[in-house]
Amino acid sequence: MHVSIEVVRETDLPQEVAERISYWAAKAFEDHGGYENCLWAPADWRILVYADGQLASFLKVTEREISVGDERLKVAGLGDVVTLPDWRRRGLAGLALRRFSEELCHRPDLEFGVLMCLPELVPYYSRFGWQAIAEAIVYTQAWGKETSHEVTMILSPHGKQWPGGPIDINGLPW
Ligand SMILES: CC(C)(COP(=O)(O)OP(=O)(O)OC[C@H]1O[C@@H](n2cnc3c(N)ncnc32)[C@H](O)[C@@H]1OP(=O)(O)O)[C@@H](O)C(=O)NCCC(=O)NCCS
Repeated sequence: MHVSIEVVRETDLPQEVAERISYWAAKAFEDHGGYENCLWAPADWRILVYADGQLASFLKVTEREISVGDERLKVAGLGDVVTLPDWRRRGLAGLALRRFSEELCHRPDLEFGVLMCLPELVPYYSRFGWQAIAEAIVYTQAWGKETSHEVTMILSPHGKQWPGGPIDINGLPW
């Protein structure tokens, strides 16, 4: 299997690739309950993994200033981590997650990575340095604030300590 990885700004994503991502992301999450009618934040950039020349895995990044306790933090919100069904369990999402960590190492302005996931995926993300924390994420929808029922996980690429306290991501979820 020949693998290549691209980091692409959302505005540079070819239309055809954007359509494939949107199709496969919708399919990947069709069984995840609790998010019917949810509005999602747009991506700022994505990591795309190609296997044998085909789009096989991808993830989405939204940059945002969020509130944690009394502090404001600039973070990279990680979402839509998806590997197409035929390409799963070959380490491709893992490659994308490692590349995400590397990108953050080169971005001192992005203090943390932040994601929400189902409890069963906590061990998986932990392998890549993510840490589960107790505070639930509060996010915005058209009608007001909602609280996530998923696990909050953080990545600290620059060795900073998470400040603690209530988390409001000040916008749509990613
Ligand atoms: C999760 C996902 C992105 C993993 O992609 P992948 O390229 O197969 O990942 P890797 O090959 O790097 O790692 C595979 C590991 O992921 C973990 N994993 C994947 N899906 C899992 C699930 N539903 N529950 C628990 N662990 C899971 C397992 O540890 C698995 O290892 P195993 O093969 O030894 O069991 C892929 O299964 C997917 O697209 N799922 C649907 C969308 C989704 O749930 N995304 C995560 C949102 S937080």
